[in-house]
Amino acid sequence: MPTPIEWPDLPAAQQPEWPDQDALERALDELRVLPPLVFAGECDLLLQRLGDVALGRSFVLMGGDCAETFAANTANSIRARLQTVLQMAIVLTYGAQLPVVKVGRMAGQYFKPRSKTTETRDGVTMPSYKGDGINDLAWDADARRADPQRLVRAYHASGATLNLVRAFTQGGYADLRQVHAWNQDFVRMSAAGQRYERIAGEIDRALAFMAACGADPEEFRRVEFFAAHEALVLDYERALTRIDSRTGDPYDVSGHFLWIGERTRQLGGAHLDLVSRIRNPIGVKLGPSTTREQAIEMCELLNPDRVPGRLTFITRMGHDKVRTALPPIVSAVTDAGHPVVWCCDPMHGNTIETSDHFKTRVYDDVVDEIIGFFEVHRALGTHPGGMHIELTGDDVTECVGGTEGIQEHEVGMRYETACDPRLNREQSLELAFHVADMLVQR
Ligand code: PEP
Ligand code: CO
Repeated sequence: MPTPIEWPDLPAAQQPEWPDQDALERALDELRVLPPLVFAGECDLLLQRLGDVALGRSFVLMGGDCAETFAANTANSIRARLQTVLQMAIVLTYGAQLPVVKVGRMAGQYFKPRSKTTETRDGVTMPSYKGDGINDLAWDADARRADPQRLVRAYHASGATLNLVRAFTQGGYADLRQVHAWNQDFVRMSAAGQRYERIAGEIDRALAFMAACGADPEEFRRVEFFAAHEALVLDYERALTRIDSRTGDPYDVSGHFLWIGERTRQLGGAHLDLVSRIRNPIGVKLGPSTTREQAIEMCELLNPDRVPGRLTFITRMGHDKVRTALPPIVSAVTDAGHPVVWCCDPMHGNTIETSDHFKTRVYDDVVDEIIGFFEVHRALGTHPGGMHIELTGDDVTECVGGTEGIQEHEVGMRYETACDPRLNREQSLELAFHVADMLVQR
């Protein structure tokens, strides 16, 4: 048995209401002895990579589903999401000539905080869907009941995803000579897909030139790819927090990077306490109500040794607030001398409802928040270090806009998300071109 860690009893927001405590204990006992999904050394490598971002030498791209589902944990779906992130990374790396750290909202993103604990339809009220790791999306009382065995299932699903991601990224599929192969299906014919083909062609020529010179660097054969999710369910994350035999330090081995959401980032709360104790690189989402004092206190709690890369602030202000809400926070953190990675989540502050009641986001609002994020950091002399995007590899119609122009009344056509609206592959690629252009104007 691994050494148990003592966890203090602190207020914890957004925890599931498990109907059966014995069943919960059984599930946690199972989790506590299951092997790690990620290794401490990999977390240390990501910390180092994010350290480079904090110092302005690279850019971090985080992307994936709002809520992964067991049903979408298929080879095709995983591959399509991975391809989308890899294509975006190529566009950013090539366009901005900057190393890109690649992180998937994948292999663990099974737990969702919700603004409302219940949902009402036609006079019937049931618990809100909280992610496949807790309950089921189906509109049915049994399905909506929190089931602790789902924690175990989320672990196994994450392991299966990671296994495929590792195979794809290490086993030749992510070899730079495959850049054309990632540009598949519907995206290939789109404007962004065509623009991508031109870059891929240039990369081909560069590789052929290097090969002719006798150079065949190992770096081109594999891709470093890390897994991230929101650390929401404390029982799950604690069961997967293990003491590393090498260093004696605790690591949460459920994912390389864990972040705390906007709804659970209370100072003095159990979520920030959890991530203060683990050695993984960590993130905190900051919405427009964040005060300077809170930001500084978080830095002191979570990164007292001021290690670059340890703490990422994922800001999600909304396109209409980013230019006023972000500067005071960035200035305060900079003045206090805390190294953080500044990462823009242009999704969660820009969610609106269509007239036929679909949650959506407008592509131009997403772009505008990123433009605002760049403006603020440029004005303050800080590094706009990354972006955090909800996306899918599929041809969905969940977000309005983009060159192919999904109209508001078309949002319902292919609306497949279990939670928030995601950019489709083409919109994601288009966004990457946009951001690469912003990064070039350094
Ligand atoms: C999310 O990332 O899916 C999320 C719920 O974000 P936030 O905590 O920023 O609202
Ligand atoms: Co979301």
